[in-house]
Amino acid sequence: MMKLSRTNLHNFLPVEAFLLVTFLGASHASTSTSCSCGYIDDQGHVWREAITTEFTQPSGALAALGNDWIVSTDNEPQSGSATANIQYIEANVLEHNSALGIQASAHTSGSSSVHSGEIFTERSDLLYGTFRMRAVVPTVPGVVFGFFSYESDTQEQDIEFLSSDDNSHQHVQYTNQPGTINGEVDNDAYRDVDVSGANFTAFGEHRFDWLETATEYYYNSNLTATITKNVPTSPSEIVLNVWSNGDPEFSQGPPTSNATATVEYIKLYFNSTSLTEAKFSQACSEAGNIARCSI
Ligand SMILES: *[C@@H]1O[C@H](CO)[C@@H](O)[C@H](O)[C@H]1NC(C)=O
Ligand SMILES: *[C@@H]1O[C@H](CO)[C@@H](O)[C@H](O)[C@H]1NC(C)=O
Ligand SMILES: *[C@@H]1O[C@H](CO)[C@@H](O)[C@H](O)[C@H]1NC(C)=O
Ligand SMILES: *[C@@H]1O[C@H](CO)[C@@H](O)[C@H](O)[C@H]1NC(C)=O
Repeated sequence: MMKLSRTNLHNFLPVEAFLLVTFLGASHASTSTSCSCGYIDDQGHVWREAITTEFTQPSGALAALGNDWIVSTDNEPQSGSATANIQYIEANVLEHNSALGIQASAHTSGSSSVHSGEIFTERSDLLYGTFRMRAVVPTVPGVVFGFFSYESDTQEQDIEFLSSDDNSHQHVQYTNQPGTINGEVDNDAYRDVDVSGANFTAFGEHRFDWLETATEYYYNSNLTATITKNVPTSPSEIVLNVWSNGDPEFSQGPPTSNATATVEYIKLYFNSTSLTEAKFSQACSEAGNIARCSI
């Protein structure tokens, strides 16, 4: 599902660009020194930067959001076959089972909006990478749990779990948007996958690798789908959300009790438009061309 607006975000001012560069510089000097030559993944891909967030840390899941993640508070008016708007509220991103809960609340009849939960990266300059979360999907019917990259409705790659889907404990939908042509499903841009033997209601790692020529989707390190159409080319942010708009053709619902996804970690390894190849190589050289970190 597309993320319709970022109305809660102010414009990106030059002074903030300066602060971002300063911040990147500082983080290189401190926390990420040991991976100054980047990361190498199980497919042999090299990534320059990382944002890793462990929600099970002692100071709590909300503290773990730090400055890397923003909690959404916007209202997304819905149309078409939807029966309600989506209202993201801060309270629906919460400490839950010693990890992060992202929730769509039990819907109160008569209310025009479904209270939903969403976080997204402060940075929107990510361009290619491997993006991973370890999570449990909501079991209450009538919601969508999404993990995706977003720049616009046509620059977006999605992992979506629909709790009202048949076999929802092993059923996942992957889409490189737009997933339709002339209102019909585009099977080159969309995959509806039943992962036999999987149990998404237990913790597992869901992942997408955004490459130049393909998006590769994984569950527990196993490739589940490859989509080569509509691979985004624009710098993007990463988003996690749980929402419902009552649409009988997609989310269904709204839910009649709180529907919560539980997230243990999010690990993003990526390249960005801020840390160029040249700046990265220089930082690696200054660090003594140390070994890449294996991920
Ligand atoms: C459902 O979530 C709301 C917050 O949106 C909370 O106030 C309420 O206590 C929750 N209900 C249950 C049964 O956990
Ligand atoms: C899936 O995992 C949950 C949580 O561990 C467990 O309660 C449930 O029985 C499992 N379901 C199946 C079909 O294995
Ligand atoms: C991953 O694939 C391997 C080899 O095909 C298989 O043994 C394993 O069960 C799969 N894991 C999951 C979680 O499906
Ligand atoms: C990411 O950056 C690394 C190191 O600069 C580079 O080798 C790699 O080709 C880049 N990947 C993509 C998809 O651009």
